[in-house]
Amino acid sequence: MGLPSISANTTQEQGFVEAKPAGSASLRPARAPANSGKAKSKSGQPKDKKVATSTRQFIKAYLKSPLQVGSLIPSSRFLGRTMAELVDLKSARTVIEYGPGTGTITAELLPRLGEHTKFFVVELSPQMASSFSKVYPDVKLYQRSIAEIGEICAAESLPAAGGVDVIISGIPWAVVPLDVQHELLTETAKVLRPGGMMLTYGYHSGLLLKSGREFAKALPKYFSSVKRTKPIWLNMPPAFVYVCTR
Ligand SMILES: C[S@@+](CC[C@H](N)C(=O)[O-])C[C@H]1O[C@@H](n2cnc3c(N)ncnc32)[C@H](O)[C@@H]1O
Repeated sequence: MGLPSISANTTQEQGFVEAKPAGSASLRPARAPANSGKAKSKSGQPKDKKVATSTRQFIKAYLKSPLQVGSLIPSSRFLGRTMAELVDLKSARTVIEYGPGTGTITAELLPRLGEHTKFFVVELSPQMASSFSKVYPDVKLYQRSIAEIGEICAAESLPAAGGVDVIISGIPWAVVPLDVQHELLTETAKVLRPGGMMLTYGYHSGLLLKSGREFAKALPKYFSSVKRTKPIWLNMPPAFVYVCTR
């Protein structure tokens, strides 16, 4: 059976990877999420107000569960765009987003998916899930932990092992305890097909934490190739992306 080949849209340079442009439009959010810079008001409400609402929801969720959310503000659209353009989403059959929060990265993924790409998100926080679904009513959301990704894939009629092409992750790995990191990476590696990819971002400040460094060290145990982008300065705080191929 001819599986599509998922390739990283990357160039090699001194061990780092860089984003290249890709893709055109298909699905759109009902309204743009916080930080996306693409807000379109259908109700006539000023876009800044909607952005502020989404950001407020994000901050509230952080204050409730700081270690689960891991960041006080959503990612920037620049980080979202970098992630979305680092992989060929158009030819992917199945793309999953982990921890979409209020959907800043989702906004950059949706227009780049193929016409027949299956896409869904997994978000643990009920507040985030509710905010997300207001912005993206047409995107399927599982309000569960990614620890259950195997069961979620089964519910999506995907093979128990190796049915997923691409995972775009917003999980704050640097604040996830090591045993949980390993559990989540094990389950993730099981559902990704050989050659499938996980993209996940980290902050340079996160590398000061033991769990951030341990995460970086653990990745090669689960993936045959792990690359890291140059810093994305237009994110607060500056971030980089791990491009991991199974
Ligand atoms: C740093 S926020 C990122 C939100 C969004 N992707 C962004 O970049 O703005 C991390 C998100 O991961 C979610 N999360 C954390 N652990 C999770 C888990 N085990 N399963 C699913 N979602 C999780 C949090 O609730 C939160 O929405």
